[in-house]
Amino acid sequence: MIRASIVGGSGYTGGELLRLLHFHSQVEVAQITSRELGGRYVHSVHPNMRGVSRLKFIHPDALNACDLLFLALPHGTAARSIERYAGLAPKLIDLSADFRLDSAAAYERWYGEAHPAPDWLERFVYGLPEANRERLRGADFVSGVGCNATAVNLALSPLARAGLMQRAVIEIKVGSSEGGNKSNAGSHHPVRSGAVRTYKATGHRHLAEVQMILGCEIPIHFAVTAIEMVRGVHLLAHCYLKESVAERDIWRLYRGGYRGEPFVRLVSGKVGLHRLPEPRVVAGTNYCDIGFELDEDGAHLVVVAALDNLGKGAAGSAVQAMNLMFDFDETTGLEFPGVYP
Ligand SMILES: NC(=O)c1ccc[n+]([C@@H]2O[C@H](COP(=O)([O-])OP(=O)(O)OC[C@H]3O[C@@H](n4cnc5c(N)ncnc54)[C@H](OP(=O)(O)O)[C@@H]3O)[C@@H](O)[C@H]2O)c1
Repeated sequence: MIRASIVGGSGYTGGELLRLLHFHSQVEVAQITSRELGGRYVHSVHPNMRGVSRLKFIHPDALNACDLLFLALPHGTAARSIERYAGLAPKLIDLSADFRLDSAAAYERWYGEAHPAPDWLERFVYGLPEANRERLRGADFVSGVGCNATAVNLALSPLARAGLMQRAVIEIKVGSSEGGNKSNAGSHHPVRSGAVRTYKATGHRHLAEVQMILGCEIPIHFAVTAIEMVRGVHLLAHCYLKESVAERDIWRLYRGGYRGEPFVRLVSGKVGLHRLPEPRVVAGTNYCDIGFELDEDGAHLVVVAALDNLGKGAAGSAVQAMNLMFDFDETTGLEFPGVYP
């Protein structure tokens, strides 16, 4: 049994970590922080935990040493205090984008400022088990993943590895919880409710993680649109292939790429309502569902993927990575299949 603490526990990914870790057989949540809610029960902001967890928030200054520290903080916060946080635990998982990229130059290019702690970048392993499983085993410092980036990376990895793609044009639709729990002009209910608002048509920062993980030189474009949904990422990728292929070739590629992966499911049916992935089916889970449809010419492949931005796109992947770091069974605490309808 290990003792893990959560910094930024009043936020959305912090709340999801608390929910997942509470039911993890090898983890006890030792402390959870909020600067404003110290002394209040966690259910005051995570009402689903009422009667489940008796934990109370503490101020981050009152954190004690533990076995594993999760940081679920706004962008740039972890990097500015990494020395202090790393001093509290031998192992640490940071869910922000602060330590995801492997070079300070890439960070500066995509995030528009010099990295506050560049020496730490090489100590972190990017926390996507499907891409970095062996490096995550026993790792001490792990970064979380970008939710949109994870949808792209998992949806396109088999094609990229096979060198089959010429280019990909991707439309991603996202729910409001991607923006975190602080309100802003765009999250105000009359503005956000019912929205179909493209907020990033080119140059999304998560492209940096896509280039890093897919490692291919081909053009990949993606646009992100906010839609009426709280949790979820829906990806639809038009992939233009270098040659015409048969559907069975695509099946072979994806089955081969994800054989044995506990949290990637192939969903590509010929009949029925749920022939292709849909975010509501994976809400609250650690699954990423991936499906496809091949156009008549065999060279235009439409790939569809769905995941929960707070699950596989953040806290779920972090818990999966934690299981690898501590040599626990990789699926422990992540077995929840979601709810339907
Ligand atoms: N939301 C997503 O879908 C998603 C997906 C993947 C990755 N991420 C990444 O995960 C991180 C957290 O995202 P989130 O959506 O959970 O954010 P959030 O809902 O805004 O929560 C962040 C929490 O951090 C605490 N905090 C803020 N500044 C702090 C500071 N200086 N020191 C200590 N605590 C501080 C705040 O709590 P108090 O004010 O109560 O202290 C706040 O509740 C972000 O970096 C984000 O990019 C988010």
